[in-house]
Amino acid sequence: MTETVLILGGTREAATLARRLVDAHPDWRVVTSLAGRTAEPAPVAGEIRTGGFGGIAGLADFLRRERITRMIDATHPYARQISANAAEAAALAGVKLDVHTRPPWDRQPGDDWREVASEADAAAAIPPGARVFLALGSQHLAPFEARRDVHFIVRMIDPPASPLPLASHTIVTGKPGPAAEEERVLRDHAITCIVCRNSGGDGAYGKIEAARTIGIPVIMIARPA
Ligand SMILES: NC(=O)c1ccc[n+]([C@@H]2O[C@H](COP(=O)([O-])OP(=O)(O)OC[C@H]3O[C@@H](n4cnc5c(N)ncnc54)[C@H](OP(=O)(O)O)[C@@H]3O)[C@@H](O)[C@H]2O)c1
Repeated sequence: MTETVLILGGTREAATLARRLVDAHPDWRVVTSLAGRTAEPAPVAGEIRTGGFGGIAGLADFLRRERITRMIDATHPYARQISANAAEAAALAGVKLDVHTRPPWDRQPGDDWREVASEADAAAAIPPGARVFLALGSQHLAPFEARRDVHFIVRMIDPPASPLPLASHTIVTGKPGPAAEEERVLRDHAITCIVCRNSGGDGAYGKIEAARTIGIPVIMIARPA
């Protein structure tokens, strides 16, 4: 049966899934939705639409208007709002919803992880005077503003649109790389601690391996419930 599939994307897994569906089902319409946060997103097979839907009602309208027969939530595990909206909108529009969430990373021998529940808890857990590699988007930095004793190296895919709310910081632009590259960044900036989320997958794992090799702690912000 021919399907019209909406993939909620913005992750490598979503792009892989789009490729797989387009190749396996040339007669299907496969649409990937991106939030539009990244200036130059990686290419995606099939169609792409960009930007918010306008909440649950907007997404439900989109599902009906485009006659979507199946929605796949392949968003990032910390993208809570869109996943919650997808569940509600699917029910409203009577569309089948599959959820593809990457499993989290597990602690390995040699890892020094300090698990915290929130960004505020992560900020409080940073040792005094640390040089911190902060692998979070610019919208998540406000809780770290109070740590004026800390120098932050903030890695972002695109340069920020407005100044960051951090007293002492350096911005490193680019995507996460393999462990050897991440190790170089950590050593070049004399990093003593990493703050990140348990994103799972291969793409962002290099920094975790590099932290293990160098022997520095990782303050790991837990996944949303
Ligand atoms: N959070 C992360 O750490 C992270 C990391 C890597 C990639 N991403 C990707 O970046 C995107 C945004 O993440 P977020 O954490 O900002 O999301 P979020 O907080 O869950 O969503 C906020 C709003 O952004 C819009 N939105 C989010 N994802 C969308 C999508 N795929 N297509 C269309 N609209 C979308 C929705 O607006 P409306 O209510 O107007 O529809 C949603 O209500 C997601 O696609 C996610 O997979 C996120």
